Amino acid sequence: MKKYAIILAAGKGTRMKSDLPKVAHEVLYKPMICHIVDELRKMDIDETIVVVGYQSEAVKAILDDQVTFVYQNEQLGTGHAVMQAADLLKDREGTTLVLNGDAPLIRHETLEALMDYHEQGHYQGTIVTAHCPLSQPFGRIIRQGQRVEKIVEFKDASEEIRQISEMNAGEYCFDNQALFEALSHLTNDNAQHEYYLTDVVGIMNDHGQSVGGYVIDDFNEVGGINDRVALSEATAILKQRINRQHLLNGVNIIDLNNTYISSDVEIGEGTTIEPGCILKGKTVIGKHCYIGGYCELTDTIVKDHVEIKFSVISDSIIESGTDIGPYARLRNHCHILENVHIGNFVEMKKATFGKGSKSAHLTYIGDATVGEGVNIGCGTITVNYDGKNKSQTIIKDHAFIGCNTNLVAPVTVEENAFVAAGSTIVDTVPENAMGIARARQVNKEGYAKVLEKKRNKK
Ligand code: UD1
Ligand code: CA
Repeated sequence: MKKYAIILAAGKGTRMKSDLPKVAHEVLYKPMICHIVDELRKMDIDETIVVVGYQSEAVKAILDDQVTFVYQNEQLGTGHAVMQAADLLKDREGTTLVLNGDAPLIRHETLEALMDYHEQGHYQGTIVTAHCPLSQPFGRIIRQGQRVEKIVEFKDASEEIRQISEMNAGEYCFDNQALFEALSHLTNDNAQHEYYLTDVVGIMNDHGQSVGGYVIDDFNEVGGINDRVALSEATAILKQRINRQHLLNGVNIIDLNNTYISSDVEIGEGTTIEPGCILKGKTVIGKHCYIGGYCELTDTIVKDHVEIKFSVISDSIIESGTDIGPYARLRNHCHILENVHIGNFVEMKKATFGKGSKSAHLTYIGDATVGEGVNIGCGTITVNYDGKNKSQTIIKDHAFIGCNTNLVAPVTVEENAFVAAGSTIVDTVPENAMGIARARQVNKEGYAKVLEKKRNKK
């Protein structure tokens, strides 16, 4: 049996009050639509189709080519959106999931259970439902025992129907051919003059087909996001879900409520995460690390036994035994090797920093390759940019760079070389040599007194 999924992502999301299409808004640092696509990837779905419309390019840009896009040029309703996949799907045999693109908290376990329920009940369609507070403006489920007879949209519902607490969650499973057959009978004769996907339920019933209602307990998993309040609430829910899972896996998260770990981040056992951290993208943190307060790590790989405090790191790899911060910034493909020490106010960009090397304070290392056992003094700057081009600095094993040095790239400091403090180095410093490049000191005897007299005259 082939399995398909259709995600509805063509709407603007007027209530978000934003230029971004709704499904591109992030929940815990990942666009809504990506949450759904990634959950589907954990299942064996043969083809995932995303219906795009409003700002389709922006939506396509955040997804890869493993999904198929179809266009809904005018947003005439959720049923009309699904119809845009008809050319592609309508003749195929199989089961099709239809998912609202604005419900990013759905889990693949729930979708798998939905498909099982659908199959075991021999239904032509199955609706995910949940009991919600009556204030929610969701579609109401009209039941006949196990079967769902129809869905009435909130805006079309009488006061009596609005008292029904079982509501449509916006996730569905259909026999594929039955779905497209029913869609061909849709009309837009309703309060919103839209082609409602939800009308398919009544149509199937009229045609003697049966529709099931799969009730789930956790309404939080399915609630559609229509405004920024709901978006922020979804982030809070997902944050709890993810943090709890890490805690159960043996990660020591000190404050469950004040730690923001995006859904694809991996963290090893015995690692401590202090409050205020934001860990996002494809970040992977090893075992027994200490991530101090207020660190922001994006797409960064941290190996075991690393300590990072109060730092911002992106697109980098930190090998084991290294300690970083407070107040360090590493970006753009840094590779920090084992047992390195990077201290306060150090910035590195596109730099490889060798085993056991140290840069303890106030330094910029950019476009550089630094060997093993190197000591970089306070205030060192790799002068990598001449206003047009970026150039490389190479510092070889066991070199010593004195404080307040400028290394004007391209330049090389060879093995075991020593650069005197305050130098501006523009040429190679050879192996074992000392490079000194600054004016010699002159002392003018007694002149301090002369200066004082001059100042007093003013
Ligand atoms: C929909 C359901 C409602 C359900 C609720 C759950 C319908 C008619 N109603 O209402 O029963 O309780 O979800 O959250 O389906 N979209 C398109 N093209 C369109 C219109 C919408 O792609 O022409 C997409 C939107 O981008 C969104 C999704 O479909 O991702 C749902 O649309 P939305 O307008 O938010 O539906 P609701 O009014 O919330
Ligand atoms: Ca919605």
